Amino acid sequence: MADWWDANGRRHRKQFATSAAAREHEHRETALAHAERASREMKLAARTSSAKRAPKTESATIEPAKGKLGVMIPGMGAVATTFVAGVEAIRKGLAKPIGSLTQMGTIRLGKRTDGRSPKVKEFVPLAGLDDLVFTGWDIFEDNMYEAATNAGVLDYRLLEQLKPFMSSIKPRAAVFDHNYVKKIDGPNVKKGKTKMDLAEQLRDDMRDFKKTSGASRLVTMWCGSTESYIEPTAAHQSVKSFEKALRENDEMIAPSMIYAYASLMEGVPFANGAPNLTVDLPVMLELSRKNEAPICGKDFKTGQTLMKTVLAPAFKARLLGLSGWYSTNILGNRDGEVLDDPGSFKTKEESKLGVLEHILQPGLYPELYGNMYHKVRINYYPPRGDNKEGWDNIDIFGWLGYPMQIKVDFLCRDSILAAPIVLDLVLFLDLAKRTSELCGLGIQEWLSFYFKSPMTVPGLYPEHDLFIQLMKLKNTLRHLKGEELITHLGLEYYD
Ligand SMILES: NC(=O)c1ccc[n+]([C@@H]2O[C@H](COP(=O)([O-])OP(=O)(O)OC[C@H]3O[C@@H](n4cnc5c(N)ncnc54)[C@H](O)[C@@H]3O)[C@@H](O)[C@H]2O)c1
Repeated sequence: MADWWDANGRRHRKQFATSAAAREHEHRETALAHAERASREMKLAARTSSAKRAPKTESATIEPAKGKLGVMIPGMGAVATTFVAGVEAIRKGLAKPIGSLTQMGTIRLGKRTDGRSPKVKEFVPLAGLDDLVFTGWDIFEDNMYEAATNAGVLDYRLLEQLKPFMSSIKPRAAVFDHNYVKKIDGPNVKKGKTKMDLAEQLRDDMRDFKKTSGASRLVTMWCGSTESYIEPTAAHQSVKSFEKALRENDEMIAPSMIYAYASLMEGVPFANGAPNLTVDLPVMLELSRKNEAPICGKDFKTGQTLMKTVLAPAFKARLLGLSGWYSTNILGNRDGEVLDDPGSFKTKEESKLGVLEHILQPGLYPELYGNMYHKVRINYYPPRGDNKEGWDNIDIFGWLGYPMQIKVDFLCRDSILAAPIVLDLVLFLDLAKRTSELCGLGIQEWLSFYFKSPMTVPGLYPEHDLFIQLMKLKNTLRHLKGEELITHLGLEYYD
């Protein structure tokens, strides 16, 4: 006979052969009771939050994707042209949208035994690829066919088949400041007395594009070069101070911020694919919420950081320590050349470095991650073009502190990895704009999945773990459609 206590502290008496068996029984009962309670709480939370926030009917909260969607891209370089050419190639049946969650991904609904896993694009109303129309800005005068040829990412045999379409997309004159991107300069640049004049010209471009393309909705996607590192100042704190600074040509206003301001003033969603501050500023959050123009950023999560946000959560899950992580890259595209400038590199470095701290939480696990050394290097090496090589040397330690090493050598293609991210962001941002529950939120944290340095409201640390990010994204879609959230608890299968 032995006593055991349940999770509510109640004492029970039962016959057990040994006291170890009694303890085991107690543990099992306690774990089950905790899991059941957690399940009840999660169900209750999902119910209360759906009562408060979920749509009663789909059509009441998500506007249909009717008409054309205009995609406006500041920076018509390697990423932008690989994305646009890819969409056209897929439309023509020449290629498949590999890497795109909106096009190839599925979403499980209900229980694992229900067998309901529609495609994402069939579950939520997204714009179809045939409805996408494009424009862009660049400091160079090359049309998209010429820019894609220069970028050298895509095979010329594919590009030739897309030539008439790609040649028809010509860059509008850019808002540019050489002080922010020191390694390049070009002739196709707007002139204006003040930065406010330049913003007005961009707004005119946007209205013109909407009219001439017949688009019913627009989205802006920053694919321009990485700008020099700056920190927010008083000018960025409110719409009022920002507009005053625009009129006074404040040097702390970077070109990308002028595009973002113009876009948000037009009520157009904005995504930031580079590590620049751009929309990561109080003024932009204010504008985004006020004009119901969703924002997200920053810095597409493509090669090395993608791997980091897969491996680091595995180390933490298994409580393996990390003493150092050395990451280096060689790349030879224009992005690599721009990042050769210390100012632009610092912006990228900040974006890449934050990842490990947030995933590994050294404050919570000082013995495992308190002394980790993290270094990131990017080397401009022209022969490689867009085909980057990212090396990682990872020094970990296990049981009793014994050291081990992992080497990752990722021979990747930068723009091939980035293009499907651009496509998904375009379609999801447009969805957010049409969804009453999302359009006034400002930052779309559910899109963290796509970024190296995900934006969050002030005071909230970002989620970097790729699998948490994916769960957050899919649960947001389930929530919007009034479907049960998936918690992976799964006890109900054993009832
Ligand atoms: N490819 C990737 O894997 C990846 C990943 C994360 C972030 N990014 C970022 O995406 C951006 C684009 O990368 P890319 O490889 O296409 O670079 P790219 O150099 O090929 O293209 C950038 C283009 O932006 C133009 N540009 C610069 N400033 C501009 C301005 N103010 N207005 C309009 N155009 C401007 C340049 O002339 C250039 O054509 C870069 O900031 C890069 O750091 C790329």
